[in-house]
Amino acid sequence: MSRPDRTSVDDYTSHGPAPQGCPHREGRLVLSNEDMRDGPATLYHRMREQYGPVVPIDLDPQGTENGTPAWLVIGYSELLEVCSDEDRFSRDSRHWRELREGRLPADWWLRPHVAHRDNTRFADTPYHQPRRDALIRALKSVDQTHVVRLVTTYADQLIDRFCALGETEVIAEYARPLPLLVTARLFGLRSPGDQANLLDAIHRMLTGGKQAQRADHEITKVLQNLVEDRRLTPQDDLASRLIAAAPGQDDQAIREELWLLLHAGAGATTYWIANAFQQLATDHGLRTGLNNGSHTLDAVLRATLWNAPPAENVMGAFARRDTVLGGRQIQTGDMLVLGLGGANHDPILGTARASYTTSNDSHLAFGAGVHRCPAPGQILGELITSVAVERLWQRCPNMSLAEPGTPLSWGPSFVMRALTALPVVFDASEPGSRRAPDLSAFGGPEWSSPQSSDSPTEYPPRTSSNSPGPSTDSIPSGATSRRKDRPSRRSDRSSLWSSLIAWWRGQ
Ligand code: HEM
Repeated sequence: MSRPDRTSVDDYTSHGPAPQGCPHREGRLVLSNEDMRDGPATLYHRMREQYGPVVPIDLDPQGTENGTPAWLVIGYSELLEVCSDEDRFSRDSRHWRELREGRLPADWWLRPHVAHRDNTRFADTPYHQPRRDALIRALKSVDQTHVVRLVTTYADQLIDRFCALGETEVIAEYARPLPLLVTARLFGLRSPGDQANLLDAIHRMLTGGKQAQRADHEITKVLQNLVEDRRLTPQDDLASRLIAAAPGQDDQAIREELWLLLHAGAGATTYWIANAFQQLATDHGLRTGLNNGSHTLDAVLRATLWNAPPAENVMGAFARRDTVLGGRQIQTGDMLVLGLGGANHDPILGTARASYTTSNDSHLAFGAGVHRCPAPGQILGELITSVAVERLWQRCPNMSLAEPGTPLSWGPSFVMRALTALPVVFDASEPGSRRAPDLSAFGGPEWSSPQSSDSPTEYPPRTSSNSPGPSTDSIPSGATSRRKDRPSRRSDRSSLWSSLIAWWRGQ
């Protein structure tokens, strides 16, 4: 694809005013989520007009002394260029000048997203492909019927907690715990105690601050124990399959890959679920289309990947040498943030974009090039998301935003842009009603090599006790009639989350 009208940075008002309302520092944009208020299409249009496809940004909304410069790549073809040219752009963050020259404080808030880890995401050729192949082999062996059962059962348990109230906060009560529980279970963490510990640690890590590092150590320990155990006693789970698929990798490398699957997988799935509900809540056409059958759920999920991708921006790629990108002089060691959301709005995609967002898969929500989200990861994410959205939409009918006039709340950083809360209201129903999923109705994408060795008896009827799988028996008594003791949606998010973890532990 080519850009006929503007080819050099001089064609843009590169040091002109920032898009209306956006602060800037030394010609670099300091973006916050506030700037998205008019919607991504408008903001990216203004950014593109004023800065072109490669935008100089500052990563620190709060501002460190000298700022933290980076480039936000919002051009569709420029983003493909970054993702496909390994000679110029590395994924190994140890190339990043700010890190190499020690300019970032140890507790810098974005460090966990960018500090190098020994896993596939940060690996370059020739180390990358063998590691990615092992992940693909392990992920391919997950049986989709098993996944559908897990998601359906956990979804029903979570929905039972709030369906009688007629209101919930979708992120804390549903979209975050559900993919984590499914992923933990696929890994082989079976007991509600292990799962609750992991939920708790991940919540504390995402909350940030001093406790984040400690929580990260706790997650690492849970995963380390799992790997050591499965090395000795392989079982029918993802951890054991990854060990088998990567014979040359030691425990630490396997543990790091599991960490990646947990974050890349469960994290992205959370925001695909959340953003799909946000799209349904705010896009009248999608909502009525889904309700009257003119749009399938698949179309809604695809529109979400175009308009509100789960990972709006990815940090990132790092210049191996001085080069030019989109008319910008990029220097060795610069960071390029992959603006997946911005690139999805590139006018180069044509004026027909709006009409094909529900049917066309050329969006960049799954990344691009050799580090693109592996196909079995995409399939797993799609399966979890579609069952999760369908269950909630069916069991909590007539869902709409709880406070339609109030802007939604997003995290502090535009770079790690994610909804922090999505309060909704719906028609209340009794816990346990509308359950009875017809599994065959969920269909879902084809799994390329279903080799399930899960015996159906692994999932006894919900009345059975001592089940290794999720069952209604794992819901402590009282959890299904929580109208009195459950915090209202006005409570702070932490207490919502703590109540969920305590409930999962059986307290
Ligand atoms: C649910 C929707 C998902 C979305 C939107 C998504 C998105 C992405 C994106 C944008 C990347 C590229 C990151 C980069 O360029 O650095 C990526 C990579 C990756 N994703 Fe996903 N992902 C999803 C689900 C999953 C799931 C469920 C798994 C596995 C459990 C998974 C595993 C991975 C892995 C291993 C990578 C790294 C690949 C590599 O570096 O070669 N993803 N994903």
